Amino acid sequence: MCGIVAYLGKKTAQPILVEGLKRLEYRGYDSAGIALLRDAGINVQKTCGRISALEEILECPQGVDTLGIGHTRWATHGVPNTINAHPHLDYTGRIAVVHNGIIENYGTLKTWLQNEGITFVSETDTEVISHLIGYLYCEAESSERCGGQHRFEWAVQQALQKLHGTFGLAILCADFPDTLIGAKRGSPLILGVGDGEYVLASDAAAIVEHTTRAIYLADNEMVTIGSEGFYTKTINNVVVAKDLKEIEFSLDQIELNGFEHHMLKEIFEQPQSLGMCMGGRLDHACGKIKLGGIADHLRELTQAKHIIFTACGTAFHAGLVGEFLLEHLARVPAETEYASEFRYRNPIIGDDTIVVAISQSGETADTLAAVEQAKERGATVLGIVNVVGSSIARATDAGVYLHVGPEIGVASTKAFTAQVAVLSMLAIELGRRRHVSSDDAAWYIDELSQIPEKIGTILDQSSHIREIAAANADRENWLFLGRGCNYPVALEGALKLKEISYIHAEGLPAAEMKHGPIALIADGMPAVFIATAGPQYDKIMGNIEEVKARGGKVIVVATEGDEQIEHRADYLITIPDAPELLQPMLTVLPLQLLAYHAAVLRGHDVDKPRNLAKSVTVE
Ligand code: G6P
Repeated sequence: MCGIVAYLGKKTAQPILVEGLKRLEYRGYDSAGIALLRDAGINVQKTCGRISALEEILECPQGVDTLGIGHTRWATHGVPNTINAHPHLDYTGRIAVVHNGIIENYGTLKTWLQNEGITFVSETDTEVISHLIGYLYCEAESSERCGGQHRFEWAVQQALQKLHGTFGLAILCADFPDTLIGAKRGSPLILGVGDGEYVLASDAAAIVEHTTRAIYLADNEMVTIGSEGFYTKTINNVVVAKDLKEIEFSLDQIELNGFEHHMLKEIFEQPQSLGMCMGGRLDHACGKIKLGGIADHLRELTQAKHIIFTACGTAFHAGLVGEFLLEHLARVPAETEYASEFRYRNPIIGDDTIVVAISQSGETADTLAAVEQAKERGATVLGIVNVVGSSIARATDAGVYLHVGPEIGVASTKAFTAQVAVLSMLAIELGRRRHVSSDDAAWYIDELSQIPEKIGTILDQSSHIREIAAANADRENWLFLGRGCNYPVALEGALKLKEISYIHAEGLPAAEMKHGPIALIADGMPAVFIATAGPQYDKIMGNIEEVKARGGKVIVVATEGDEQIEHRADYLITIPDAPELLQPMLTVLPLQLLAYHAAVLRGHDVDKPRNLAKSVTVE
């Protein structure tokens, strides 16, 4: 949800900013811009559209420009156009700001600044920040109020103290041609520390090309970077020491490596990514599962009377699978709440309630807010997160990392299967400690370890799935139906199709269809059934007949060797046999591929679907 990048060093800043923005483009892509310090002034170039559109308007890079800031936007306040694109200058033209987040009190501040005679040019909340810093900067000049402190830094601090809401910021001042300031509250910000150069960015993806050493700012912290080095403080001017950390992923992980899209690459990575996620955690010899990150909380988890998963989007669907797994294997009441609803619904949290936040990015604002809410109510809060060192990873008491490497495609794929793998491991281990026999636990562990290989046989059907997508991609309404732990997979299949194909799709528990949605079935409407081997198989056969009788086209995901289904399905995709509880890690694959191929066939930009962003850092 907006990406920011800034550079200070010895090299020409412009190409570094543009490359960084390309790596952050998944965070937002409706407009983009850069500002460079040049000839004791600030040169701003910005445009509506993607980074490629920005590249077309950029002047030739100049070697003397070694300090600059850049931004790729996902609009919140104000339509995507060139005026609303960042960077935003203050009224004096001496301060430039790029911002990720939302300023909640911008209306009040804007009115106040307008009454002081300042004219606003954009509709954004961000412009308030640049004018406020500029205003305070001018005030400091006339009253010498900053008492010896760096005047630019003082003005930034005073301004930030007046802001309500969230921000990741990079700020320039024309009077300090070798100073860059970054600050953070609620939005991510990382400072990459290279050899005489610094890259400040929303995400390590924009940094790793230059350095793998970084500091992660905490909320209400800021960094002042100069040619001589950098120092960190709180926005209230208290010095804080930060440790340099090693960034864990390499550039190779975020390249396309021959795939047409990141989403396809990430779908095909799942045998390896699940292997990485489960690697070292399945102890076949002892029939146990080791989840080191939550080892200190296992006793509490084993005794928990109530577990609440909270998450958004795809992670929410993983939570729904987790609810099913925990109830079946560990016999613990579990429920899954949309994070955006959880925080406003006065949830009942007792001493033996554990809240588990699930998030790929670890930065989703709604999930982070739910974590804070649960903590305020005294719950132990655990995280299932992919991005190491992210806000949710740091805000939770403990957690399990997915370890699947960076996910770039906006539509989440490999994170989903890994989230379900972690939830499966958690459920098996808690089950083993509560109700499940050692033999059964060992059997589940063995079955779990076979999942990555089984995924390979589903990926082999990609061209067949493409043909199914081609035959149905012109239909504007689809249904996805599943039962038991495959019902959340149906929801996920529908979400994938909506996100990238812009086809209207609904996911439903198959039996619910007859209570209303069956009215939608008309000639040729695609209905995707997950009808794998399991206790509800016969029931779902009945649901398939109901759709066929009304002229629907039935696409079935079934278990290999199921001869009965061959005569009923219009299109058949098979998965290898697996225990029902572990099937979601397999049944979701055909649905990911179906959505991917449908989107490509409809001519959409799969990795950057309209109106979406990967990391939603606004509530
Ligand atoms: C956005 C993305 C979804 C993702 C959701 C939750 O809406 O477009 O793909 O599932 O955020 O993201 P998280 O990073 O918290 O898993």
